[in-house]
Amino acid sequence: MFNLENEKVLVAGGSSGIGLATAKLLSEVGAIVTIGGRDERKLEQAHQVLGANANTISFDASDQSQRLAALAKVGSIDHLVIALSGGKGAGPFEKLPPSDLRTGFEAKFWTHFSLAQESLSYLNENGSITFVSAISARAANPGTAGLAAINSAIEGMVKPLAVELRPRRVNAVSPGVVDTPWWNWLASEVKEETFNRFAQASPVGRVGQPEDIAQAIVFVIGNTFMTGCVIECDGGLRLVGQQL
Ligand SMILES: NC(=O)c1ccc[n+]([C@@H]2O[C@H](COP(=O)([O-])OP(=O)(O)OC[C@H]3O[C@@H](n4cnc5c(N)ncnc54)[C@H](OP(=O)(O)O)[C@@H]3O)[C@@H](O)[C@H]2O)c1
Repeated sequence: MFNLENEKVLVAGGSSGIGLATAKLLSEVGAIVTIGGRDERKLEQAHQVLGANANTISFDASDQSQRLAALAKVGSIDHLVIALSGGKGAGPFEKLPPSDLRTGFEAKFWTHFSLAQESLSYLNENGSITFVSAISARAANPGTAGLAAINSAIEGMVKPLAVELRPRRVNAVSPGVVDTPWWNWLASEVKEETFNRFAQASPVGRVGQPEDIAQAIVFVIGNTFMTGCVIECDGGLRLVGQQL
């Protein structure tokens, strides 16, 4: 569908889940991909999936000196995908510790913001930035006000940045519930029960696969008429209130 032959893409958070599926699809359409993450073992395993043409860079995106060193090492890029996962911030509003929400903002909002900002010295004028936000920004699910705040903050930057950074393009893809290692904090039987519940609630009758989201990300990278958009790729789950 798209030819991204020889375009250089950095996928931050590309060693797992949505980022890895995106890196794979980008490689298939000809891009030269570098994946970033903290865990070198995960990076090596992902490298084996992607093949010799892909590159890896180990860095912690929450650490400024590591971010800057990683960007300098990767050098000029045509596109940046930020698929870094977050952390805390979920739970009933009345009992949500503000410290949890601060930690959640540090892990997701500030890493996305900082990496996007610091990448500008390396990002091609005709290139793009794609943030990966989350369904919580647009759904009305009890227990997700904190996550909604974090992901809305990311999505809120998309339109102004699309105008401010032009001709570079800026978009976000907002996934629903997707079967990735992010959910491995749940015991396997609890995870299965949770996914079944989401699948039944979802208009499409299933949870997402990383490849579903990768297709939306590659679409906004490859379609040069797309900017200032948040694509909701969630099987319609945001339309049906669902307790997490
Ligand atoms: N899965 C879902 O249901 C779902 C739903 C809505 C939104 N999302 C969003 O989709 C994005 C991708 O999530 P996922 O499900 O694919 O998660 P995942 O499988 O856990 O992958 C997360 C990736 O981010 C990297 N990462 C996390 N923190 C990092 C840091 N500080 N520095 C560098 N790399 C870091 C991880 O590698 P290391 O751990 O080795 O660093 C890994 O490569 C996240 O923004 C998430 O919030 C996911």
